[in-house]
Amino acid sequence: MRPGVRLALAVILVLVLGGLAYGGYLLVRPPVSTVGHVRFDRPLRIPPLAPSTVDPKGVRTFTLEAGAGVSDFGRGRTPTWGYNGAYLGPTLRVRQGEPVQVDIHNGLKEQTTVHWHGMHLPAKADGGPFAAIRPGGTATAAWTVNQPAATLWYHPHPDGRTEEQVYRGLAGMVIVDGPGSGPDPALPSGYGVDDVPVIVQDKGFTDGGEFTIPNQLGGTLGILGDTLLVNGTIGPYHDVTTQLVRLRLLNASTARSYSFGFSDGRAFDLVGTDGGLLSAPYRTDRVAVSVGERAEIVVAMRPGERVVLRSYPPNPDSGTVVRQFQGGADAFDVLQLRAAATLKPSPPVPAKLTDVPRLDPAGAVPRTFELGGRAINGQKMAMNRVDVVAVKDVTERWTVRNTDFMQHNFHVHGTRFQIASKNGRPPPPPLSGWKDTINLQPGEEMDLLVRFVDYADPTTPYMYHCHLLKHEDSGMMGQVVVVEPGQQAQLAHHHPH
Ligand code: C2O
Ligand code: CU
Ligand code: CU
Repeated sequence: MRPGVRLALAVILVLVLGGLAYGGYLLVRPPVSTVGHVRFDRPLRIPPLAPSTVDPKGVRTFTLEAGAGVSDFGRGRTPTWGYNGAYLGPTLRVRQGEPVQVDIHNGLKEQTTVHWHGMHLPAKADGGPFAAIRPGGTATAAWTVNQPAATLWYHPHPDGRTEEQVYRGLAGMVIVDGPGSGPDPALPSGYGVDDVPVIVQDKGFTDGGEFTIPNQLGGTLGILGDTLLVNGTIGPYHDVTTQLVRLRLLNASTARSYSFGFSDGRAFDLVGTDGGLLSAPYRTDRVAVSVGERAEIVVAMRPGERVVLRSYPPNPDSGTVVRQFQGGADAFDVLQLRAAATLKPSPPVPAKLTDVPRLDPAGAVPRTFELGGRAINGQKMAMNRVDVVAVKDVTERWTVRNTDFMQHNFHVHGTRFQIASKNGRPPPPPLSGWKDTINLQPGEEMDLLVRFVDYADPTTPYMYHCHLLKHEDSGMMGQVVVVEPGQQAQLAHHHPH
């Protein structure tokens, strides 16, 4: 053998052995846990409320600029992306019934879009992959808010680049208030005081302070970090001045699921999920929030005490893949609540929160969606293919099945749905309100009642997809076009703005 060949073989051998050793390590490595190790020495950053103007016609206009910047999370200078700032974006607050407009500017060096996750709006305003905004370009999204109070969010949705853009920091919260003049009076409603956005994201940091983008197993499972940022704060505390606090939990991570509870195991009230308030508060000590989902909880505090919002292992009993590669056994200390010595009284959580009218499953149009192999029904996303044509105002029953050995999510744009059944049984209370995103462990199945109301547009699709962003980017997504009865779908060709 020539020396060159021998060297090459030796290098290959080392790489193969190294790969096997690394794979073996991943299979046996202990779970990540920051429980007991977080210092809680920084006040929780509260994203500012986005300023807006209201024109004589009553249209409320916001401006968002996506751009790059540098953030100081306490780990050095971290290059980050954000909207109207270096990291994350302002909270947009809108009211049911109000016409809104968002003027978007792309200050990045690559294409982006802004998608309104959970918002019921025309497909043209939805910000899917077809709505690419070129670097330096602008776009406008306009719609009338036409849904009840809820916690929603916005984030980029460009073809194949969503994971990285969100990971670098592009995301923000949207709060929809119910009709009327004030915020919901019955629940804690002081923004950043007793009604607190809690945007949870996991990151890895290099020694130099940059975000790491670990490439596990060729990067097919997605990014899992060992450090939490909450609203862009590492190790945050929040000073509580009232007896009750509402936390609007948003999982804006790229791959990680959480199971939120408190360090002392106290119970709290789950009052809202993705699409709005539950009909009644649900008393529990844990709430599961997978990527893209939201949960609104109300927790009672005693004067002078400190308690930690924790994420317990979300799927400790799942199979090896979920436990070792999808963070199923990982745990985090998230946010410390510090109660003042005296607390202002809060009105009690009402026993009834809202009406959740049930969609009628009789005669619903059946469809099946199998999640597996980074595809839906065996197909990868194609921007020029319509996968589903739904008729406006007609209820459909979507059976979504995870046939894979890893967990997946399922999110639908443009609408809110109800869960008719989970694994053949009626949904548990946390899944019985309005939803737009669900998590499916291997082998699980849910039946969703989906109804696209108000807006038909035969030329422009809504998306449905796995919200584990690596999976979404690699094609685990499909397109649904909503038409009037008798209409044909005919996708328009969209060009970057
Ligand atoms: Cu949160 Cu299609 O997205
Ligand atoms: Cu969405
Ligand atoms: Cu997935």
